[in-house]
Amino acid sequence: MSNKEKQKTYYDEKSKGGTYWTEGLPMPHFYPNKYVFDKLLCNVTGKHVVDFGCGCGQFSYYLSKKGARVTAFDISKKNICDLNTFAKEYNVFIPSLVASADQCPLEAESFDFVFGSAILHHLELDEEKDAVRESYRMLKKGGMAIFIEPLINSKLLDTIREYIPIKDKYNPRPSKFSAEFRKYAAEDPHPVRPLTSAHFKKVFSDSGFKVQIKEIGIFNRLDRLTRNQTIRKWISTSDYYFLQYLVPFRGKFYRNIVVIAEKEECG
Ligand SMILES: C[S@@+](CC[C@H](N)C(=O)[O-])C[C@H]1O[C@@H](n2cnc3c(N)ncnc32)[C@H](O)[C@@H]1O
Repeated sequence: MSNKEKQKTYYDEKSKGGTYWTEGLPMPHFYPNKYVFDKLLCNVTGKHVVDFGCGCGQFSYYLSKKGARVTAFDISKKNICDLNTFAKEYNVFIPSLVASADQCPLEAESFDFVFGSAILHHLELDEEKDAVRESYRMLKKGGMAIFIEPLINSKLLDTIREYIPIKDKYNPRPSKFSAEFRKYAAEDPHPVRPLTSAHFKKVFSDSGFKVQIKEIGIFNRLDRLTRNQTIRKWISTSDYYFLQYLVPFRGKFYRNIVVIAEKEECG
């Protein structure tokens, strides 16, 4: 099965059992992303934004509420159906389509922002290269792509992470010590691929972008160990505002990367 088929099947099946949004809950990465939106995408009013690999659209909705004109796409038909249901329920207009990131039928130079959350790490390297090229194509000159992805700058930390079970309702992960791990690993939709700062910087630079990289989040690794939304929100918020500055050698420990990639006016 190709990676694309695997993604489609996994997400079509997965969201049948419900999502955070079906329960009216923010997703685990909602607060970190909100920080990025608020700091880096402060003025989206009237701007045309594409939510690249939108899932069921929680961030498309957030951006629309901030005044952006959002178009959203995802490879999973079920996710797009859910997005349409939510958009109707919450009374927002979000044009959406089922499409793949590496070959998207949206028009060239039609967006001020490309926004992607936790999508690139689902792509194999050749798909990622094409997806980044697609973002460049879709952006207007002077436009900006912002991607927030998981970051693995430390092999050691990543190995330790695999042994800690996560009891998250919609995204559980058994410990590598446990009997269920083998089944989990066989179904896991994350291709094995580099997720380092250097890797992301290179992929975007190679496609012609002027790239800035920001690594964020250290203590928010702990947020999935609790289901308590108030504690999660508190950890993420305080982490992004100040906790992360207290850790020495933090480059290795950051949990997420924010790629801020500009399509230059004269590009
Ligand atoms: C971890 S989810 C993130 C969803 C959403 N952006 C968010 O932050 O909640 C990854 C999403 O990538 C989508 N996806 C995977 N491969 C894709 C591809 N080739 N093109 C478009 N979407 C894809 C999946 O269907 C899934 O919705």
